[in-house]
Amino acid sequence: EKQGYDWFMRKEIFEQPKAVADTLLGRWSDRGELVLDEVRISPEELRRINKIVIVACGSAFYAGMVAKYAIEHWTRVACEVELASEFRYRDPIIDPMTLVITISQSGETADTLMAIRHAREQHARVIAICNTNGATIPRESDAVIYTHAGPEIGVASTKGFLTQVVACYLLGLYLAQIRGMKYGDEIRALVDELESMPDKIQRVLDGIEPVYELARKMARDEDAVFFLGRHVGYPVALEGALKLKEIAYLHAEGFAAGELKHGAIAVVEEGTPVFVVVPPEGRDQLHDKVVSNIEEIRARGARTIVLAEEGDTAVSAFADMLISLPRCSTLLQPLVAAVPLQAFACELATAKGHDVDQPRNLAKSVTVE
Ligand code: F6R
Repeated sequence: EKQGYDWFMRKEIFEQPKAVADTLLGRWSDRGELVLDEVRISPEELRRINKIVIVACGSAFYAGMVAKYAIEHWTRVACEVELASEFRYRDPIIDPMTLVITISQSGETADTLMAIRHAREQHARVIAICNTNGATIPRESDAVIYTHAGPEIGVASTKGFLTQVVACYLLGLYLAQIRGMKYGDEIRALVDELESMPDKIQRVLDGIEPVYELARKMARDEDAVFFLGRHVGYPVALEGALKLKEIAYLHAEGFAAGELKHGAIAVVEEGTPVFVVVPPEGRDQLHDKVVSNIEEIRARGARTIVLAEEGDTAVSAFADMLISLPRCSTLLQPLVAAVPLQAFACELATAKGHDVDQPRNLAKSVTVE
C-alpha cells in the first residue's frame, strides 16, 4: 500500500535510499573481493569478452547510458548501448566474445526480450539486470543480477532506474576485478563510495521542498522544459525529460550540453525553463564547460534551474534556482542528480491533477513490440 503517500511513485522515490542499499547488500566477501555469485559465467569466459553491448528500453536504456561511462572507464572494454527495438532489427555485430547486458525492471519488455533472443542465437552471453524474480528476461538469460528495489508500481520508473545504475556499476567493477584492471583497495574504495550513496540520496529527499514549490509554480504555465547535462549527466537529463513527458504530459527534451551550439540553443527563448546538471568540480574541464553553457543560455533569457554540488560557487551567478547535490565523484552523481528531477515531475503532475501512477497511454510493462 501507499503508506500515507498520495502516489506509489512518490513512495517509490522516497524508498530509493533503501532500494540502493539493498541492491548493494552482501557484495563484499571476507576474502576482500567483490562477489556477484549470481553471475554464473566463468571468469575465464568473462576475461575473453572483447565487447559489451547494453540493450534496454526507456528509463532502463538511460540507466545503460549512464553505465557505459563507468563500465568502459573501469574495464577498458568497448561498451555500446542500444535501444532494444533498434538493436534487434539491424543485424548487429555480436559473437561469442560479446557480452550483452540487458536491463529491465519488469523483465517482460517485449523488445528487450526479442533482443536477447537474437543475441543468444548469435552465441553471445547475456546477463540480465532485472527487478522481478523469475520474469521471462532473466529466465532466458545466461545469468541475472537482481536489483532489490522491491515492487515498482508507479508506471514511471524511479527506484527501478537508480538500482539499475547501481547493479550495472557492480557488474562493471566485478568485470574490472576479474580482468585485472582494478585491484582490491581500488575496488573497495569504489564500493565504499557506492555504499555512501543511500545517505546522500536521503539528504536530497530531506531537502526536496523547494523543488516541490518550483513544480507547483511551473504547473501554471504550459512551457516546454529542457534539460541539459554532460557525460553521465546527459542521460540524467534525458531521464528528467522522460519523467516529465510521461506523467505531466509536457513537452520536455534532454540535450547533451556540448550539443547546444549545434542546434538546441535555437529553441531557448526569454523565460524558457532549463534544468542543468553540473558535473562536480574536478580535474577535467567538464564542470567549467557546463558552467559556460549555463551562461550562454542565460544570456538568451533562459530560466535556469541548476543542479550542482554543494559549495560550487561558480554556478550561483547564473542560477535562477540552485538545487544542491551532496558531494560525490562524477560517475556516482546520477544517483543523486536524478532524484530532484523525479520529484519535480511527480509534484508537477500532481499539481496539474493528473493520475501520476497511471499516466495516459502508458502501461507498466510493454509486452508487445
Ligand atoms: C520510464 C518507464 C519506461 C520503462 C521501459 C522499460 O519511466 O517506466 O520507459 O523504463 O518501458 O521497462 P522495463 O525496465 O520494465 O524493461
